[in-house]
Amino acid sequence: MATKTENNTSPTVKKDIVENLTQTPLQSQSKDKDQSMAESPLHKLFVDALKDIYYAENAIVDALTKMEAAATTEELKDAFEDHQLQTKKHVTRLEKVFKLIGEQPEKKECKAIVGIIKEGEEIIKSTEEGSMTRDVGLIIAAQKVEHYEIATYGGLVQLAITMGHDKAADLLERTLQEEEDTDLLLTDIAESSININAEQED
Ligand SMILES: [Fe+2]
Ligand SMILES: [Fe+2]
Repeated sequence: MATKTENNTSPTVKKDIVENLTQTPLQSQSKDKDQSMAESPLHKLFVDALKDIYYAENAIVDALTKMEAAATTEELKDAFEDHQLQTKKHVTRLEKVFKLIGEQPEKKECKAIVGIIKEGEEIIKSTEEGSMTRDVGLIIAAQKVEHYEIATYGGLVQLAITMGHDKAADLLERTLQEEEDTDLLLTDIAESSININAEQED
């Protein structure tokens, strides 16, 4: 009876049985894990944070044009120009990160960066054109932007590592390093001359 049943099994059904038997438990488990990770609350939080910083980086590209135009010293203008080029790379890197984790690049309004950029605009309005005092204010405003970015990327790098997104973590880490370098450069510019010269202004 058992032999008869086996003989009645169609070739297609037999093929399915063989395929199911040859799929290792590990393969099917990792597929299930990927699927559940993509739907997990942590993945959603990670993607939302990426959308927030994607909005912020795009807003910073625009803000740096205004900050460069408003700055007094060539040194600070150059620093803003260089960082704008880096910021454009940050936008491109984030697009790669979205792709690596199977998501679409999308912007979500970042209220924090909107506020920080607004503060920078107020500094431009409240300081005299061509003054060192304006550069002092612009450096403080720019460092607030950098610190926001450092906090965000610091968290995102660690999350990417935890979630096993190693390539995404590497890209985010490179941006984090550039934000930290920019912060240090701005401190150097302020302390080497701008703060001292501003102190002499009436
Ligand atoms: Fe950036
Ligand atoms: Fe930055």
